[in-house]
Amino acid sequence: MGIYGEQVLPRIVNVACGMKVVREQRQRVCDGLHGQVVEVGFGSGLNVPFYPDAVSSVVAIEPADVGWKLAAKRLASSNVPVERSGLDGQSLPLANDSCDTALTTWTLCTIPDVETALLELRRVLKPGGALHFVEHGLAPDDSVRRWQHRLEPIQKRVFGGCHLTRPTVGLLKGAGFTISELDTYYEKGVPKALGANSLGVARPP
Ligand SMILES: C[S@@+](CC[C@H](N)C(=O)[O-])C[C@H]1O[C@@H](n2cnc3c(N)ncnc32)[C@H](O)[C@@H]1O
Repeated sequence: MGIYGEQVLPRIVNVACGMKVVREQRQRVCDGLHGQVVEVGFGSGLNVPFYPDAVSSVVAIEPADVGWKLAAKRLASSNVPVERSGLDGQSLPLANDSCDTALTTWTLCTIPDVETALLELRRVLKPGGALHFVEHGLAPDDSVRRWQHRLEPIQKRVFGGCHLTRPTVGLLKGAGFTISELDTYYEKGVPKALGANSLGVARPP
């Protein structure tokens, strides 16, 4: 991956994704998480302060060692036990039906084989479980979509394979999830091509 991907990018993500405007979205997406949680794309643990008390433990899946190191202070000030148990959302080291809830925040854009990652989440969630997500993706407006297609090659190079045009809800439905809550919006203060967000809850069959 190289020094940029391993050392620099996780630090950029830690700052960019830690901005105040993002916190309210983290609060919303974490609301309702409970029991055993798997968080795919844990990053630097920016969701840790928002885990509700009903969360008993978290299995963190994250390839970037630097992200995990940057999470240390947040983990130290949290009562929720978090274990880094895997490096790749495409292959979760968890038994079938073992998690009550799951969390992804701005991660489905980056996982190379996102369809496989979603099938893995579906596999490890208990029946009646829930995947809480907030993701940027394909915009609802054609004019914004055109910019997304133009910018995507650059975005992928600069941000470690991050796609701008993934249709989050379509991908979730394609993996067999039912969407039970959904809010779509352009994130304030972010160019529309980068901030076409979907925040919600998806249920496995
Ligand atoms: C934009 S960052 C978001 C980080 C974090 N979820 C947040 O909200 O701050 C995308 C994250 O996905 C992680 N990632 C990339 N490929 C992955 C994979 N195959 N499995 C799990 N996570 C992955 C990256 O290392 C990075 O931490």
